[in-house]
Amino acid sequence: MVNIVERNTAQSWEELLLKARAAEARGMKLVAVQGLGFVGCAVVAVVAAAQLPNGQPRYFVIGVDVATPEAQRRIACINAGVAPIASPDPELPKLLAEGRERGNLVATSDPRAFGLAETVLIDINLDVTRMSTQAPGNIELGLESFSSAIKVVGSHMNPAALVIVETTVPIGGCEKIVQPILASELAARGSLEPPRVAHAYERVTPGVNYVRSIRSFYRTYSGMDEVSAKLAGDFLGTIVDVESYPLRQVSSTRASEMAKILENSYRAANIALIQEWTVLAEEVGVNLFEVIESIRVRKGTHDNIRQPGFGVGGYCLTKDSFLAQFSAATLFGSGVKLEMTMRAMEINYAMPLHSVARLLELLDGSLAGKAVALFGVSYIADVGDTRNSPSEQFVDKVKALGAEVRVHDPAVEGWRERPEIPFCAGMEEAARGADAVVFSVPHKAYLSLQAADLKAMVGKRGALLDANNLFGDGVALELRAAQWRVAGVGKGHWRAARFHQA
Ligand SMILES: NC(=O)c1ccc[n+]([C@@H]2O[C@H](COP(=O)([O-])OP(=O)(O)OC[C@H]3O[C@@H](n4cnc5c(N)ncnc54)[C@H](O)[C@@H]3O)[C@@H](O)[C@H]2O)c1
Repeated sequence: MVNIVERNTAQSWEELLLKARAAEARGMKLVAVQGLGFVGCAVVAVVAAAQLPNGQPRYFVIGVDVATPEAQRRIACINAGVAPIASPDPELPKLLAEGRERGNLVATSDPRAFGLAETVLIDINLDVTRMSTQAPGNIELGLESFSSAIKVVGSHMNPAALVIVETTVPIGGCEKIVQPILASELAARGSLEPPRVAHAYERVTPGVNYVRSIRSFYRTYSGMDEVSAKLAGDFLGTIVDVESYPLRQVSSTRASEMAKILENSYRAANIALIQEWTVLAEEVGVNLFEVIESIRVRKGTHDNIRQPGFGVGGYCLTKDSFLAQFSAATLFGSGVKLEMTMRAMEINYAMPLHSVARLLELLDGSLAGKAVALFGVSYIADVGDTRNSPSEQFVDKVKALGAEVRVHDPAVEGWRERPEIPFCAGMEEAARGADAVVFSVPHKAYLSLQAADLKAMVGKRGALLDANNLFGDGVALELRAAQWRVAGVGKGHWRAARFHQA
């Protein structure tokens, strides 16, 4: 994490206003982005990099976040031209640094910035605060904070500005939540024209293709009316490589809101399906990775089949399906129950417990007094995001069963969600003397590890649980030769060969 507390990165309102007016005079359009999290901090960078045909910057971009210490850190980072989030994609820090150099990218917590913009992008979070797979009516969202954020935009925005909602919202979110709030705020300021609202969900993936996943990828969008849709399409056409990735307009905001949620629910259900087959493969002695590889050759229908793993984490796949079920029950008063989608959420939620079962088997059925080293607490390889990491459930259970746990992760400097768990800066520090080492995330730093490295790090005859296919049969055989115990999620062939036993 970047610490730039020492640098003077304050952006006063007067300073910001001067810059904005000067940029306008140079022909730039003003864009405000609400929310500078994993999505917003990359969106500001990409929008600021958009150019006119003559090579001049097209936009003056103002990132707006709240005044919490973490948001202030992000604001300061962007004003210093530094990425606020550790990114394996060098393009992100490069674009942010260029935005600062050019002077067309600033960040602030002053909401008056919304009043300057012709286009406002909403990239804030909308959390599911209460999940329920059984009772749709019990699902609750963080609508209070979402709505108050939209209210702030409405109370400052130019009535003619276009608001593009990129946040993942429940189906009906733009028409039943966002537009009425904006309309009421504008009416309070004397503007009775309906606000211009569009929906264009983000498909950004904060990994090695962080920037490309915004700029060079397909986008779906819609508008609350024709003018809003047209303006949104025109705007997206200036930041996305539409020659290679043509935009797709759908007929209503409900449709694009549903597209985003179905997209993620499909992925979650695909993962849940494979979890079921993981259990079967381990029971009948089959290497499920070999099976999946043989199926993936069917390009177009089967090549995106998921594979066995440790669990589902992150902000989106763990919540998005609930937004759909919330919509049905609460926004539309419908009795529709998304049975299969909700079942997938249950299976995925319980997935890390499967690794606990494998670990128990590896350690003769008891974890009491055992030292377990977990490698990987972020939810995805090489990205410093620990939100809803499956490691949480795994560690909680392993600790409850009496083990002492320590963790390591090269993508983060600590584990915010579990500060009480010893976080080791070095791999060896975590592994030394452990009864079992568990690899849960295929971080690049782990992928080159050989059996000799594991043996040297642990320093005694140990046990390996490969929960995310980091190691091949060669490593397993070499460890077996050194009398290690070895198990792997989805690796039924190791289990059939009794690699987990002494
Ligand atoms: N993270 C991803 O990979 C990803 C991908 C696609 C879509 N999305 C969706 O995009 C949205 C944002 O996700 P994220 O991962 O960036 O979330 P995040 O939690 O990382 O960031 C949200 C940001 O919004 C800020 N914010 C909250 N209220 C605000 C307010 N009133 N004014 C200004 N700023 C405010 C927060 O301080 C935070 O910095 C979510 O709906 C998410 O589902 C996320």
